Amino acid sequence: MPVEFKNYIDGQWCNATNGKRFENRNPANWEEILGTFPDSDSEDIDRAVRSAAAAYDAWRLMPAPKRGEIIKRAGDLLVKYKEDIAREMTREMGKILLETRGDVQEGIDTAYYAATEGRRLFGHTAPSELPDKFNLSIRQPLGVAGVITPWNFPMAIPTWKIFPALVCGNTVVFKPAEDTPATAVRFVEILLEAGLPEKVIQLVNGYGSSAGMPLVEHPEVKLISFTGSTPVGKLISSVASKDLKRVSLELGGKNAQIVMPDADLELALDGVLWGAFGTAGQRCTATSRLILHEAIHDKFLPMLIKRAEKLRLGNGLEPATEVGPVINQKQFDRILSYLKTGKDEGAKLETGGERYTDGVCKNGFFIRPTIFSNVDPQMRIAKEEIFGPVLAVIKIKTLDEAIRALNNTKYGLSSSLYTRDVNAAFKAIRDIEAGITYINGPTIGAEAHMPFGGVKETGNGHREGGWPVFEFFTEIKTVFVDYSGKLQRAQIDNQ
Ligand code: UN1
Repeated sequence: MPVEFKNYIDGQWCNATNGKRFENRNPANWEEILGTFPDSDSEDIDRAVRSAAAAYDAWRLMPAPKRGEIIKRAGDLLVKYKEDIAREMTREMGKILLETRGDVQEGIDTAYYAATEGRRLFGHTAPSELPDKFNLSIRQPLGVAGVITPWNFPMAIPTWKIFPALVCGNTVVFKPAEDTPATAVRFVEILLEAGLPEKVIQLVNGYGSSAGMPLVEHPEVKLISFTGSTPVGKLISSVASKDLKRVSLELGGKNAQIVMPDADLELALDGVLWGAFGTAGQRCTATSRLILHEAIHDKFLPMLIKRAEKLRLGNGLEPATEVGPVINQKQFDRILSYLKTGKDEGAKLETGGERYTDGVCKNGFFIRPTIFSNVDPQMRIAKEEIFGPVLAVIKIKTLDEAIRALNNTKYGLSSSLYTRDVNAAFKAIRDIEAGITYINGPTIGAEAHMPFGGVKETGNGHREGGWPVFEFFTEIKTVFVDYSGKLQRAQIDNQ
């Protein structure tokens, strides 16, 4: 009998009102069930939102540094439970233990950073144009925040959103991805153990259409923070805008690494292997295009193929494994269909391109690291997000052509340039259309205190991580204090 996990609504661990449940299975071994989870709907969302709204007043009035102390304790508990959470996360979504530990570490870093922002949450002061008058702006929370998160970073991404939301004084209704509900339950348990008052956090498990959308639509939800696909982000944005809700969207990517002839090729090779095949390519920031200068193309490509073919696929709990499975049947089928598209478009399949079923992998969703060469920037495999271990190699003649090829997609999250030429590096920093540019590093590697997000259809202008996320989760109030004892009229007395 699989473990029955619950929702956390109105201060109680509970089932969905409709009594329905869904299974959570291990993508490395589909026969292994981690547990069953409530398949919630609008009724559960409504209960959760109303309870979070009722908890808001007491929470917003707690001094922000005190709220920060609770987040600090949550960080300490993530340290304490890191290994257990990482192992469960690997079973839940497949990425290797080294990476699931990193995922929890990102949550720890975010906690320690967010906790200290409780002591800042800066507004501004400015001189008044009138005598004996004091002008300032302060930050205030908004109310109930709806948080909808993906499965590829089941701890890190919820912490990116929920820790700042809480430090700022909002209460939270959390709808995690249906592929990674167990990590979400652990996270909420940790928040409660850290001393978060009950009802300030509410956890509602379920699917996007039946649980996520009612959260977006609920009139008492003031803001939505979502990470996921661009089509779903557009839908959320159009629904939420009817009520003028504030929405932060972190969406797709089609990230590229450029390698110039003067680059350290071994370094660039390590970078692209990690960027393209880490997390089996299932990151918004994954390297899915490699743009090689023609002077090194024929040398670099065989080096890359050789290394890619050596990557060990398997269960992420085994220390020797380097690449785990992809998340589920649907993604598996989608990636395989892109492999067919690549061949049909005339790209050259250099390695991979098929399912991997050897040994322990026979019951899992494993796809061999795949490299296409001869890719034209106009091909679908060069423009569309695949979210799997698939790399498209494009050959170019100049840096300008490389940047044009890199920009030739509707997305703009991460980007990378390997060069030793400082002029080329600064030109690329200026001209690449992306929210993140790495010089001599792969396209992945966010740090908790730096802004994270993208341009074009990767998002809607907001950032996570760093200071900007605290702006998203607060509203500005402008305050004028007149201590002159007279009626002073701006624009009238000063004419
Ligand atoms: C994502 O793929 O949605 O910098 C986030 C990185 C990770 C975060 C990725 N730490 O690639």
